[in-house]
Amino acid sequence: MRTQVGIIGAGPSGLLLSQLLDLAGIETVVLERQSRDYVLGRIRAGVLEQGTVTLLHRAGVGERVAREGLIHTGIELCFAGQSYRIDLEGGSGGSVVTVYGQTEVTRDLTEAREAAGAQLVYEAEDVALHDIDEERPRITYRKDGREHEIACDFIAGCDGFHGVSRRSIPPSQLKTYERVYPFGWLGVLSDTTPVSDELIYVNHEKGFALCSMRSMTRSRYYIQCRVDEPLEEWPDDRFWEDLKSRLPEAAASRLETGPSIEKSIAPLRSFVAEPMRHGRLFLAGDAAHIVPPTGAKGLNLAASDIHFLSNALIDFHDKGGTDLLDSYSRDCLNRIWKAERFSWWMTSMLHRFPDHTPFDQRIQLAELSYLVGSDAARAALAENYVGLPFS
Ligand code: APR
Ligand code: PHB
Repeated sequence: MRTQVGIIGAGPSGLLLSQLLDLAGIETVVLERQSRDYVLGRIRAGVLEQGTVTLLHRAGVGERVAREGLIHTGIELCFAGQSYRIDLEGGSGGSVVTVYGQTEVTRDLTEAREAAGAQLVYEAEDVALHDIDEERPRITYRKDGREHEIACDFIAGCDGFHGVSRRSIPPSQLKTYERVYPFGWLGVLSDTTPVSDELIYVNHEKGFALCSMRSMTRSRYYIQCRVDEPLEEWPDDRFWEDLKSRLPEAAASRLETGPSIEKSIAPLRSFVAEPMRHGRLFLAGDAAHIVPPTGAKGLNLAASDIHFLSNALIDFHDKGGTDLLDSYSRDCLNRIWKAERFSWWMTSMLHRFPDHTPFDQRIQLAELSYLVGSDAARAALAENYVGLPFS
Protein backbone atom coordinates (compact mmCIF):
# COMPACT_ATOMS: atom_id res chain seq x y z
CA MET A 1 0.00 0.00 0.00
CA ARG A 2 1.04 3.63 -0.55
CA THR A 3 -0.01 6.88 1.07
CA GLN A 4 1.26 10.43 1.26
CA VAL A 5 1.38 10.76 5.05
CA GLY A 6 1.42 7.70 7.32
CA ILE A 7 0.10 8.69 10.75
CA ILE A 8 0.80 6.60 13.83
CA GLY A 9 -1.75 7.03 16.63
CA ALA A 10 -5.48 7.88 16.56
CA GLY A 11 -5.47 10.24 19.55
CA PRO A 12 -6.30 13.92 19.09
CA SER A 13 -2.95 14.69 17.34
CA GLY A 14 -3.19 11.95 14.71
CA LEU A 15 -6.89 12.43 13.98
CA LEU A 16 -6.66 16.21 13.73
CA LEU A 17 -3.70 15.97 11.36
CA SER A 18 -5.48 13.40 9.21
CA GLN A 19 -8.58 15.60 9.07
CA LEU A 20 -6.71 18.81 8.14
CA LEU A 21 -4.61 17.06 5.48
CA ASP A 22 -7.66 15.39 3.98
CA LEU A 23 -9.36 18.80 3.62
CA ALA A 24 -6.27 19.94 1.69
CA GLY A 25 -6.40 16.91 -0.62
CA ILE A 26 -3.55 14.97 1.02
CA GLU A 27 -4.00 11.24 1.53
CA THR A 28 -3.32 9.70 4.95
CA VAL A 29 -3.54 6.32 6.68
CA VAL A 30 -3.90 6.29 10.49
CA LEU A 31 -2.58 3.25 12.40
CA GLU A 32 -3.75 2.79 16.00
CA ARG A 33 -2.61 0.08 18.40
CA GLN A 34 -5.75 0.07 20.56
CA SER A 35 -9.37 -0.66 19.64
CA ARG A 36 -11.80 2.11 18.65
CA ASP A 37 -13.80 1.60 21.87
CA TYR A 38 -10.69 1.86 24.00
CA VAL A 39 -9.58 5.13 22.36
CA LEU A 40 -13.06 6.65 22.65
CA GLY A 41 -13.46 5.57 26.26
CA ARG A 42 -10.27 7.20 27.60
CA ILE A 43 -10.87 10.02 30.09
CA ARG A 44 -8.43 12.90 29.76
CA ALA A 45 -8.35 16.63 30.57
CA GLY A 46 -10.86 19.15 29.30
CA VAL A 47 -9.79 22.78 28.90
CA LEU A 48 -9.45 24.13 25.34
CA GLU A 49 -7.62 27.31 24.45
CA GLN A 50 -9.23 29.60 21.85
CA GLY A 51 -6.53 28.63 19.33
CA THR A 52 -7.46 24.96 19.74
CA VAL A 53 -11.16 25.69 19.25
CA THR A 54 -10.37 27.77 16.13
CA LEU A 55 -8.33 24.88 14.74
CA LEU A 56 -11.20 22.43 15.40
CA HIS A 57 -13.47 24.78 13.44
CA ARG A 58 -10.93 24.92 10.60
CA ALA A 59 -10.95 21.12 10.61
CA GLY A 60 -14.74 21.13 10.23
CA VAL A 61 -15.39 19.66 13.70
CA GLY A 62 -16.29 22.80 15.63
CA GLU A 63 -20.04 22.42 15.71
CA ARG A 64 -20.51 20.40 18.92
CA VAL A 65 -17.81 22.19 20.91
CA ALA A 66 -19.50 25.50 19.97
CA ARG A 67 -22.86 24.13 21.15
CA GLU A 68 -21.89 22.13 24.23
CA GLY A 69 -18.55 23.65 25.34
CA LEU A 70 -18.71 25.79 28.47
CA ILE A 71 -17.06 29.21 28.16
CA HIS A 72 -15.02 30.04 31.26
CA THR A 73 -13.85 33.60 31.88
CA GLY A 74 -12.06 32.96 35.18
CA ILE A 75 -10.66 30.41 37.63
CA GLU A 76 -10.60 30.30 41.41
CA LEU A 77 -7.35 29.91 43.36
CA CYS A 78 -7.49 28.84 47.02
CA PHE A 79 -4.73 28.78 49.61
CA ALA A 80 -4.41 29.39 53.34
CA GLY A 81 -8.19 29.01 53.68
CA GLN A 82 -8.97 31.93 51.32
CA SER A 83 -10.34 32.00 47.75
CA TYR A 84 -9.40 34.43 45.01
CA ARG A 85 -10.78 34.76 41.48
CA ILE A 86 -8.38 35.17 38.57
CA ASP A 87 -10.12 37.01 35.74
CA LEU A 88 -8.83 35.23 32.64
CA GLU A 89 -10.72 37.41 30.20
CA GLY A 90 -9.72 40.75 31.71
CA GLY A 91 -6.15 39.61 32.43
CA SER A 92 -5.53 38.33 28.92
CA GLY A 93 -7.14 41.16 26.97
CA GLY A 94 -10.34 39.35 26.09
CA SER A 95 -9.57 35.64 25.72
CA VAL A 96 -11.49 32.82 27.39
CA VAL A 97 -11.17 29.03 27.58
CA THR A 98 -13.73 26.39 26.67
CA VAL A 99 -14.35 23.46 28.99
CA TYR A 100 -15.01 20.44 26.76
CA GLY A 101 -13.60 16.96 27.38
CA GLN A 102 -10.76 15.56 25.30
CA THR A 103 -12.89 12.42 25.03
CA GLU A 104 -15.47 14.50 23.14
CA VAL A 105 -12.81 16.08 20.90
CA THR A 106 -11.61 12.58 20.02
CA ARG A 107 -15.16 11.44 19.30
CA ASP A 108 -15.91 14.45 17.06
CA LEU A 109 -12.69 13.87 15.10
CA THR A 110 -13.20 10.09 14.82
CA GLU A 111 -16.74 10.51 13.52
CA ALA A 112 -15.66 13.18 11.02
CA ARG A 113 -12.83 10.95 9.76
CA GLU A 114 -15.14 7.98 9.41
CA ALA A 115 -17.79 10.05 7.61
CA ALA A 116 -15.11 11.10 5.11
CA GLY A 117 -14.19 7.45 4.51
CA ALA A 118 -10.74 7.77 6.11
CA GLN A 119 -8.34 4.84 6.31
CA LEU A 120 -8.30 4.32 10.07
CA VAL A 121 -6.74 1.03 11.13
CA TYR A 122 -7.43 0.04 14.76
CA GLU A 123 -5.68 -2.83 16.58
CA ALA A 124 -2.60 -2.49 14.38
CA GLU A 125 0.06 -4.62 16.09
CA ASP A 126 3.86 -4.32 16.02
CA VAL A 127 3.89 -1.02 14.15
CA ALA A 128 7.48 -0.39 13.00
CA LEU A 129 9.10 2.49 11.11
CA HIS A 130 11.75 1.94 8.41
CA ASP A 131 14.03 4.16 6.30
CA ILE A 132 12.89 7.32 8.10
CA ASP A 133 15.90 9.28 6.87
CA GLU A 134 15.37 8.28 3.25
CA GLU A 135 13.04 9.62 0.50
CA ARG A 136 10.47 6.89 0.87
CA PRO A 137 9.98 5.82 4.51
CA ARG A 138 7.85 2.73 5.23
CA ILE A 139 5.63 1.53 8.03
CA THR A 140 5.00 -2.15 8.70
CA TYR A 141 2.37 -3.62 11.02
CA ARG A 142 0.32 -6.72 11.66
CA LYS A 143 -3.46 -6.84 11.64
CA ASP A 144 -5.61 -9.96 12.10
CA GLY A 145 -2.48 -12.10 11.78
CA ARG A 146 -1.44 -10.60 8.39
CA GLU A 147 1.64 -8.48 7.72
CA HIS A 148 1.17 -5.11 5.98
CA GLU A 149 3.50 -2.46 4.60
CA ILE A 150 2.77 1.18 3.74
CA ALA A 151 5.16 3.26 1.65
CA CYS A 152 4.88 6.95 2.62
CA ASP A 153 6.21 10.35 1.64
CA PHE A 154 6.21 11.38 5.30
CA ILE A 155 5.46 9.76 8.65
CA ALA A 156 3.78 11.62 11.53
CA GLY A 157 4.54 10.11 14.94
CA CYS A 158 1.38 10.97 16.90
CA ASP A 159 1.55 7.90 19.12
CA GLY A 160 1.86 9.45 22.56
CA PHE A 161 4.57 9.18 25.19
CA HIS A 162 4.81 5.36 25.09
CA GLY A 163 4.66 5.09 21.29
CA VAL A 164 7.14 3.60 18.87
CA SER A 165 7.91 6.73 16.79
CA ARG A 166 10.21 8.62 19.16
CA ARG A 167 12.05 5.38 19.93
CA SER A 168 12.71 4.91 16.18
CA ILE A 169 15.01 7.95 16.13
CA PRO A 170 18.65 7.03 16.85
CA PRO A 171 19.31 8.03 20.49
CA SER A 172 22.40 9.98 19.41
CA GLN A 173 20.12 12.27 17.34
CA LEU A 174 17.66 13.08 20.14
CA LYS A 175 18.10 15.07 23.33
CA THR A 176 15.52 14.58 26.06
CA TYR A 177 14.72 16.69 29.11
CA GLU A 178 12.65 15.30 31.95
CA ARG A 179 11.30 15.97 35.42
CA VAL A 180 9.22 13.38 37.26
CA TYR A 181 7.18 14.81 40.14
CA PRO A 182 7.03 12.92 43.46
CA PHE A 183 3.22 12.59 43.45
CA GLY A 184 0.24 11.79 41.23
CA TRP A 185 -3.36 12.89 40.73
CA LEU A 186 -6.26 10.74 41.80
CA GLY A 187 -9.12 11.67 39.46
CA VAL A 188 -12.84 10.96 39.83
CA LEU A 189 -15.59 11.53 37.29
CA SER A 190 -19.16 11.61 38.61
CA ASP A 191 -22.64 12.51 37.47
CA THR A 192 -23.05 15.23 40.06
CA THR A 193 -23.57 18.99 39.72
CA PRO A 194 -20.16 20.72 39.66
CA VAL A 195 -19.38 22.41 42.96
CA SER A 196 -18.80 25.76 41.19
CA ASP A 197 -19.34 27.41 37.79
CA GLU A 198 -15.58 27.89 37.51
CA LEU A 199 -12.58 25.61 38.03
CA ILE A 200 -11.14 25.71 41.56
CA TYR A 201 -7.38 25.09 42.06
CA VAL A 202 -6.47 24.48 45.70
CA ASN A 203 -3.16 24.53 47.55
CA HIS A 204 -3.88 22.76 50.85
CA GLU A 205 -1.62 21.37 53.55
CA LYS A 206 -2.92 17.88 52.71
CA GLY A 207 -2.02 18.44 49.07
CA PHE A 208 -3.39 19.92 45.84
CA ALA A 209 -7.04 19.61 44.81
CA LEU A 210 -8.85 20.62 41.61
CA CYS A 211 -12.58 20.92 40.94
CA SER A 212 -13.37 20.72 37.25
CA MET A 213 -16.31 19.61 35.14
CA ARG A 214 -17.42 18.13 31.85
CA SER A 215 -20.92 19.63 31.79
CA MET A 216 -23.37 21.21 34.22
CA THR A 217 -24.32 17.70 35.38
CA ARG A 218 -20.94 15.93 35.26
CA SER A 219 -18.01 16.79 37.55
CA ARG A 220 -14.32 15.97 37.38
CA TYR A 221 -12.32 16.21 40.60
CA TYR A 222 -8.68 15.54 41.41
CA ILE A 223 -6.63 15.29 44.58
CA GLN A 224 -2.86 14.98 44.92
CA CYS A 225 -1.87 11.48 46.01
CA ARG A 226 1.15 9.16 46.04
CA VAL A 227 1.81 7.59 42.62
CA ASP A 228 2.12 4.11 44.10
CA GLU A 229 -1.16 4.18 46.04
CA PRO A 230 -3.43 1.26 45.14
CA LEU A 231 -6.79 2.48 43.79
CA GLU A 232 -8.59 -0.02 46.05
CA GLU A 233 -7.50 2.12 48.98
CA TRP A 234 -9.61 4.94 47.60
CA PRO A 235 -13.27 3.90 47.82
CA ASP A 236 -15.61 6.74 46.81
CA ASP A 237 -16.45 7.71 50.41
CA ARG A 238 -12.81 8.22 51.27
CA PHE A 239 -12.26 10.29 48.11
CA TRP A 240 -15.20 12.62 48.79
CA GLU A 241 -14.24 13.08 52.41
CA ASP A 242 -10.65 13.89 51.54
CA LEU A 243 -11.63 16.26 48.73
CA LYS A 244 -14.08 18.05 51.02
CA SER A 245 -11.40 18.55 53.65
CA ARG A 246 -9.17 20.32 51.10
CA LEU A 247 -11.84 22.72 49.80
CA PRO A 248 -12.66 26.14 51.23
CA GLU A 249 -15.66 25.96 53.57
CA ALA A 250 -18.21 27.47 51.16
CA ALA A 251 -17.36 24.99 48.42
CA ALA A 252 -17.13 22.03 50.83
CA SER A 253 -20.65 22.69 52.09
CA ARG A 254 -22.00 22.79 48.51
CA LEU A 255 -20.15 19.68 47.28
CA GLU A 256 -22.54 17.12 45.81
CA THR A 257 -21.22 13.58 46.06
CA GLY A 258 -22.24 10.44 44.20
CA PRO A 259 -20.87 7.22 42.75
CA SER A 260 -17.70 7.58 40.66
CA ILE A 261 -18.06 6.58 37.01
CA GLU A 262 -14.28 6.64 36.48
CA LYS A 263 -11.41 6.70 38.93
CA SER A 264 -7.71 6.59 38.14
CA ILE A 265 -4.28 7.71 39.33
CA ALA A 266 -2.05 9.57 36.88
CA PRO A 267 1.65 10.33 37.38
CA LEU A 268 2.93 13.87 36.77
CA ARG A 269 5.83 14.43 34.42
CA SER A 270 7.49 17.17 32.36
CA PHE A 271 9.29 15.87 29.26
CA VAL A 272 10.60 17.29 25.98
CA ALA A 273 12.41 15.52 23.12
CA GLU A 274 14.42 17.64 20.67
CA PRO A 275 14.38 17.95 17.74
CA MET A 276 10.85 16.90 16.77
CA ARG A 277 11.95 15.80 13.31
CA HIS A 278 14.30 13.14 12.06
CA GLY A 279 14.49 12.85 8.27
CA ARG A 280 10.94 12.26 7.09
CA LEU A 281 9.55 11.46 10.54
CA PHE A 282 7.80 14.30 12.41
CA LEU A 283 6.82 13.88 16.08
CA ALA A 284 3.72 15.66 17.38
CA GLY A 285 1.81 15.85 20.67
CA ASP A 286 2.62 13.56 23.59
CA ALA A 287 5.09 11.61 21.42
CA ALA A 288 7.43 14.61 21.75
CA HIS A 289 6.47 16.24 25.03
CA ILE A 290 4.54 15.81 28.26
CA VAL A 291 3.36 18.45 30.71
CA PRO A 292 1.91 17.92 34.18
CA PRO A 293 -1.85 18.60 33.88
CA THR A 294 -1.88 21.53 36.32
CA GLY A 295 -1.79 24.11 33.52
CA ALA A 296 -4.27 22.19 31.29
CA LYS A 297 -1.83 22.42 28.37
CA GLY A 298 -1.43 18.81 27.07
CA LEU A 299 -4.14 18.77 24.43
CA ASN A 300 -3.55 22.40 23.50
CA LEU A 301 0.13 21.75 22.79
CA ALA A 302 -0.85 18.80 20.62
CA ALA A 303 -3.16 21.16 18.69
CA SER A 304 -0.43 23.77 18.16
CA ASP A 305 2.00 21.09 16.90
CA ILE A 306 -0.63 19.94 14.42
CA HIS A 307 -1.25 23.54 13.34
CA PHE A 308 2.45 23.83 12.40
CA LEU A 309 2.75 20.33 10.93
CA SER A 310 -0.38 20.53 8.78
CA ASN A 311 0.66 23.95 7.44
CA ALA A 312 4.14 22.62 6.59
CA LEU A 313 2.87 19.47 4.84
CA ILE A 314 0.21 21.42 2.93
CA ASP A 315 2.76 24.01 1.81
CA PHE A 316 5.04 21.21 0.57
CA HIS A 317 2.15 19.49 -1.20
CA ASP A 318 0.83 22.66 -2.86
CA LYS A 319 4.06 24.51 -3.67
CA GLY A 320 6.93 22.12 -3.00
CA GLY A 321 8.12 24.48 -0.23
CA THR A 322 10.38 22.96 2.42
CA ASP A 323 10.91 26.02 4.65
CA LEU A 324 8.01 25.20 6.97
CA LEU A 325 9.04 21.54 7.20
CA ASP A 326 12.56 22.70 8.08
CA SER A 327 11.36 25.12 10.75
CA TYR A 328 8.70 22.73 12.18
CA SER A 329 10.68 21.60 15.21
CA ARG A 330 11.91 25.11 16.06
CA ASP A 331 8.43 26.65 15.64
CA CYS A 332 6.83 24.04 17.91
CA LEU A 333 9.54 24.01 20.56
CA ASN A 334 9.43 27.76 21.03
CA ARG A 335 5.82 27.47 22.21
CA ILE A 336 6.28 24.10 23.94
CA TRP A 337 9.00 25.31 26.30
CA LYS A 338 6.83 28.24 27.39
CA ALA A 339 3.97 25.86 28.14
CA GLU A 340 6.44 23.55 29.94
CA ARG A 341 7.51 26.49 32.08
CA PHE A 342 3.92 27.48 32.86
CA SER A 343 2.87 23.90 33.72
CA TRP A 344 5.95 23.40 35.93
CA TRP A 345 5.28 26.73 37.67
CA MET A 346 1.59 25.96 38.34
CA THR A 347 2.59 22.51 39.61
CA SER A 348 5.35 23.87 41.87
CA MET A 349 3.09 26.55 43.31
CA LEU A 350 0.08 24.38 44.08
CA HIS A 351 1.37 21.00 45.31
CA ARG A 352 2.90 19.70 48.53
CA PHE A 353 6.40 18.38 47.83
CA PRO A 354 7.65 15.68 50.21
CA ASP A 355 11.09 17.30 50.40
CA HIS A 356 9.85 20.85 51.00
CA THR A 357 11.27 22.50 54.10
CA PRO A 358 9.24 25.04 56.10
CA PHE A 359 11.21 27.69 54.17
CA ASP A 360 10.06 26.25 50.82
CA GLN A 361 6.46 26.26 52.06
CA ARG A 362 6.63 29.91 53.09
CA ILE A 363 8.10 30.80 49.70
CA GLN A 364 5.20 28.96 48.03
CA LEU A 365 2.67 30.94 50.08
CA ALA A 366 4.50 34.17 49.30
CA GLU A 367 4.34 33.33 45.60
CA LEU A 368 0.57 32.75 45.81
CA SER A 369 0.03 35.85 47.89
CA TYR A 370 2.05 37.96 45.43
CA LEU A 371 0.12 36.43 42.52
CA VAL A 372 -3.35 37.25 43.79
CA GLY A 373 -2.27 40.73 44.92
CA SER A 374 -0.59 41.89 41.74
CA ASP A 375 -2.39 42.90 38.53
CA ALA A 376 0.75 42.11 36.54
CA ALA A 377 1.15 38.63 38.05
CA ARG A 378 -2.54 37.78 37.55
CA ALA A 379 -2.30 38.98 33.94
CA ALA A 380 0.75 36.75 33.39
CA LEU A 381 -1.18 33.72 34.69
CA ALA A 382 -4.22 34.61 32.57
CA GLU A 383 -2.15 35.13 29.41
CA ASN A 384 -0.56 31.69 29.76
CA TYR A 385 -3.71 29.87 30.89
CA VAL A 386 -5.77 31.05 27.89
CA GLY A 387 -2.84 30.09 25.65
CA LEU A 388 0.03 31.93 24.01
CA PRO A 389 -0.41 32.67 20.30
CA PHE A 390 0.32 29.81 17.88
CA SER A 391 2.95 31.81 16.04
N1 APR B 1 1.28 1.90 17.33
C1 APR B 1 0.11 2.53 17.04
N2 APR B 1 -0.52 3.37 17.88
C2 APR B 1 0.08 3.63 19.04
C3 APR B 1 1.32 3.05 19.41
C4 APR B 1 1.91 2.14 18.50
N3 APR B 1 3.08 1.55 18.79
N4 APR B 1 1.66 3.51 20.63
C5 APR B 1 0.69 4.33 21.02
N5 APR B 1 -0.28 4.43 20.08
C6 APR B 1 -1.53 5.21 20.13
C7 APR B 1 -2.19 5.23 21.51
O1 APR B 1 -2.96 4.06 21.71
C8 APR B 1 -3.01 6.49 21.43
O2 APR B 1 -4.32 6.24 20.96
O3 APR B 1 -1.25 6.56 19.86
C9 APR B 1 -2.28 7.37 20.43
C10 APR B 1 -1.67 8.59 21.09
O4 APR B 1 -2.69 9.39 21.55
P1 APR B 1 -2.54 10.34 22.85
O5 APR B 1 -1.80 9.63 23.92
O6 APR B 1 -3.89 10.88 23.17
O7 APR B 1 -1.56 11.52 22.35
P2 APR B 1 -1.87 12.75 21.41
O8 APR B 1 -2.79 12.40 20.30
O9 APR B 1 -0.56 13.38 21.12
O10 APR B 1 -2.73 13.72 22.32
C11 APR B 1 -2.19 14.52 23.30
O11 APR B 1 -3.44 13.48 24.98
O12 APR B 1 -2.35 12.43 26.74
C12 APR B 1 -3.07 13.52 26.36
O13 APR B 1 -2.20 15.25 27.74
C13 APR B 1 -2.25 14.72 26.47
O14 APR B 1 -4.09 15.96 26.09
C14 APR B 1 -2.90 15.55 25.49
C15 APR B 1 -3.21 14.69 24.36
C1 PHB C 1 -9.91 18.41 33.71
O1 PHB C 1 -11.04 18.89 33.64
O2 PHB C 1 -9.71 17.20 33.58
C2 PHB C 1 -8.77 19.33 34.00
C3 PHB C 1 -9.00 20.69 34.07
C4 PHB C 1 -7.94 21.54 34.33
C5 PHB C 1 -6.68 21.03 34.53
C6 PHB C 1 -6.45 19.66 34.44
C7 PHB C 1 -7.51 18.81 34.18
O3 PHB C 1 -5.66 21.89 34.84
